[in-house]
Amino acid sequence: MSTNGFESLSGRTAVVTGAASGMGEATARLLAAHGARVALLARRADRLTELAAKIAADGGQALAVAVDVTDAESVRAGAARVREAFGPVDLVVNAAGVMLANPVDAGRTDEWTRMLDTNVAGVLRIIDAFRGDLLAAAAGGRRADLVNVSSIGAHVAFPGYAVYGATKAAVTQLSAVLRTEFGPRDVRVTNIEPGLTGTELGTHIDNPDLAGQLDGMFQAIDPALSADDVADLVAYVTSRPAHVNLRQVVVLPTRQA
Ligand SMILES: NC(=O)c1ccc[n+]([C@@H]2O[C@H](COP(=O)([O-])OP(=O)(O)OC[C@H]3O[C@@H](n4cnc5c(N)ncnc54)[C@H](OP(=O)(O)O)[C@@H]3O)[C@@H](O)[C@H]2O)c1
Repeated sequence: MSTNGFESLSGRTAVVTGAASGMGEATARLLAAHGARVALLARRADRLTELAAKIAADGGQALAVAVDVTDAESVRAGAARVREAFGPVDLVVNAAGVMLANPVDAGRTDEWTRMLDTNVAGVLRIIDAFRGDLLAAAAGGRRADLVNVSSIGAHVAFPGYAVYGATKAAVTQLSAVLRTEFGPRDVRVTNIEPGLTGTELGTHIDNPDLAGQLDGMFQAIDPALSADDVADLVAYVTSRPAHVNLRQVVVLPTRQA
């Protein structure tokens, strides 16, 4: 049923990574409010259980599945749990990510590895775990969506963010190329590149200068986006008619250059 281009998300089965906080949490809540069944993936099981209970209290359906996207076995087990509870999935949102800012000459190979493994390889592990479901849904005539949350950092150079920016550039290009593989088989691929958004993301930065610089950006660009603003976009792109694919969405706070 279509009303002004809106096609209901009711009856769809979604997986949202990074659902313990920020954009992932907001997206999971909104998709559930629109009637989708939503599997909540992240590492903090307590946060996921709490969110699943809130969604259920609001009349929605959600499943908490503790998954570490850097661990292939954890992703495999999580995907099996999702299918066991909900059956095959037709909407996947990759929102899990980490942003550990430091100049390259700080030599923080621990942070580089964690960002690459979470933001790039983690996204690939999730795609690998659910690609069969998405392709089967599309082959069966149902809408199928893969939404990757990249960043404006894929294009804009910020000192201290070389590796983070490289991971997000990889996600943007992965989305673009994947679209040429999946699009002809009716799976939509959408890459979202948000600008400054008020979430927990920056709280893991351990370099005081760069943490201070980020606080300064939030003061200068006020209001920043909220996680709900990004969730709203995910709901928008996934509720278009099946032949409409917003392939790349850059969303910035109005005051961000
Ligand atoms: N905030 C911004 O300004 C901004 C701008 C552009 C793009 N982004 C991107 O937006 C996405 C969402 O970030 P956010 O801003 O909403 O920040 P956030 O609140 O920190 O959310 C990140 C989520 O990723 C999960 N996560 C981290 N490592 C994980 C792992 N190994 N396995 C599974 N889940 C993991 C975290 O949960 P657990 O810790 O429980 O695992 C958390 O729920 C990220 O990809 C980020 O790069 C953010």
